[in-house]
Amino acid sequence: MSTTIILDCDPGIDDALAIAFAAGHPGIDLAGITTVAGNVGLDKTTANALAVASFVGAANVPVTAGCAAPLLRPARHARHVHGESGLGAAVLPPPRRAARDGHAIDFIISAVAAAPGQITLVATGPLTNIALALRREPRLARWVRDFVIMGGSAGRGNVSHAAEFNIWADPEAACVVFGAGWTVRMIGLDVTLRARATAAVRSRMGEFGVLGADLLLPALARYADPSSAAPGGRSPGSPGDREPAGDPPVHDVCAVVSVVSPGIFTYTPASVQVETTGRLTSGMTVTDFSPAIIPNAAVATDIDVTGFWDEVLRTYAALAAGLR
Ligand code: RIB
Ligand code: CA
Repeated sequence: MSTTIILDCDPGIDDALAIAFAAGHPGIDLAGITTVAGNVGLDKTTANALAVASFVGAANVPVTAGCAAPLLRPARHARHVHGESGLGAAVLPPPRRAARDGHAIDFIISAVAAAPGQITLVATGPLTNIALALRREPRLARWVRDFVIMGGSAGRGNVSHAAEFNIWADPEAACVVFGAGWTVRMIGLDVTLRARATAAVRSRMGEFGVLGADLLLPALARYADPSSAAPGGRSPGSPGDREPAGDPPVHDVCAVVSVVSPGIFTYTPASVQVETTGRLTSGMTVTDFSPAIIPNAAVATDIDVTGFWDEVLRTYAALAAGLR
């Protein structure tokens, strides 16, 4: 029995690896990919989603572009983390198709409305599309089977001390999303910074034919190189400014893995509120675990790292076998 998902993303290196996992896992029916500006601009996140989907054998999955900028703030990208293209050093064949006509918001609403209780919505970029979809159709919060984000942190941030990139890029959207009346399954830095592609993991990826050689490894190689900052270095507070050096964390893959292997993550109910005005704390997910609260989120507070990589590498190996 597979789980149907729609993946709203900003490819982005780890978004690309999340698409590959979703395409390769037999327990996932990837019903659609929607794109949003984030790591790079919307033109590139959409082109990357099309290219990665084609490369991993998911050329039949509809890709629909969404918002090119946050609700209120100017677009802020993370090119020095993901490279100018958004896929690090990976260079994929150009996609042989264009994105669907229409807007991501309408795709999400119509797909979920047509299958109430059956679709899991997964967001691995800024939450602009999700927020506007909720504004256009508030019943979306009731119609989804589940809603999962890679985003936020109950502890430290990666763009600033307080904020994680996806929330920081559009805090007003995140405010709308956490206030929509559903339970947000929040896979944040608390667990994703432990999902690192170590040398041993990357060595295994080298056994996966073109999947490893043309996508996984060149993408991660760029991602792992903290010295590849934007020319002139990083301005304080720029995305990834606080991403610790070392093995690259595959943040977004965690959100998709959580759909098919719920036991890999441990969750704690929490009330999550998003800071939108703090000079130092804008984009912070203020997380209250006290029992007295009324929870609006299930926050991932632990990860079985060994189990995570077993699941991911098993899935990539199976996907690679079909691509050779
Ligand atoms: O903070 C990590 C998140 O920001 C990931 O989704 C990454 O792709 C970037 O979008
Ligand atoms: Ca992302």
